[in-house]
Amino acid sequence: MEPIIFSIETSCDETAVAILKGKNEVLSHYVVSQIDTHKIFGGVVPEIAARKHLNYLNNITEKAFEEAKIKLEDISAIAVTYGPGLVGALLIGLNFAKGLALNLNKPLIGVNHLYGHIYANFLAFPDLKPPFLVLLVSGGHTMILHAKDYLHFEIIGQTIDDAAGEAFDKVARMLDLGYPGGPKIDELAQKGKPIYDFPKPLYHKGYDFSFSGLKTSLLYFTKKNDNYKIENVAASFQKALIDTLIHKTIKVSKDLNVKDIIIAGGVAANSYLRKKINEEKIKNKGLNIYFPPLNLCTDNAVMIARAGYEKYIRNQFADLNLDAVPSLGLKDIC
Ligand code: KG4
Ligand code: ZN
Repeated sequence: MEPIIFSIETSCDETAVAILKGKNEVLSHYVVSQIDTHKIFGGVVPEIAARKHLNYLNNITEKAFEEAKIKLEDISAIAVTYGPGLVGALLIGLNFAKGLALNLNKPLIGVNHLYGHIYANFLAFPDLKPPFLVLLVSGGHTMILHAKDYLHFEIIGQTIDDAAGEAFDKVARMLDLGYPGGPKIDELAQKGKPIYDFPKPLYHKGYDFSFSGLKTSLLYFTKKNDNYKIENVAASFQKALIDTLIHKTIKVSKDLNVKDIIIAGGVAANSYLRKKINEEKIKNKGLNIYFPPLNLCTDNAVMIARAGYEKYIRNQFADLNLDAVPSLGLKDIC
């Protein structure tokens, strides 16, 4: 019988639960975004995020079971994000999961949030098989990974300063666009032209990334000039950043001779990135590039259930002492 996994994601400002049957039959999933609460502060307030998770979790869990038309007892395991993320926010989801596991006497599965983002792709593309490359681009991470098998990912390159999503968010704040910055810049850039030449740090050097110089140069640009169109600034910034991400990923693909590439994380929702990738696919015959459907790019619990499934079938369960690990890295993936 196919396992049914109930999953919980509370690492940042989205409260999410999902019920997944087998590898990719989503019985139900809910995401409550807290963006409206945090945007007045210009970013996520950790204390408020944790309290909101506490408010929402019970309610969306009830709805998820109702929609899936199953009882609590019917689940095979509970998968929960235990890091990386905000400690208070993680602890709410983790304790909720532990309470359920204890009460229902079901196994608990600790899921690395990064691993979840990667596995979001497997819901849309169930036939994906290692080896593949991953471009992981979220609010906290920017990495190129080489997946040699399902649970081992080697870091080929990563940012030495800001993450791609963080750069989007910071630049949006500089331009007074509000939070979260990625979608705002994306939207604005569609109305502009990339006419300004912002730097692409480390573009021709190695596999690592650096985005803080790009951000600073944009800051100086806006201070020194007042006769610019904000749409063009957004389009130019976005192009410099995304072109760098894509250039390096394709370079790694050629150097390591790995033809399958997965894009994962919130920045994978970017429309220019998605357009550029399709162009690369046409340019480079034999290259397969995958990105998740839009609703699975940003934080959700379906991806946590899907990653949890990989651990479930390998009997990799956690005990009730599982702790929240705010700075959980990729090496701790399994
Ligand atoms: O993966 P995610 O939901 O959360 C983390 O695990 O960090 O990613 C959130 C990040 C934010 O920095 C947000 O600005 C960025 O993803 N993002 C975007 C877009 N949508 C979300 N960045 C660029 N373009 C977008 N359309
Ligand atoms: Zn995330």
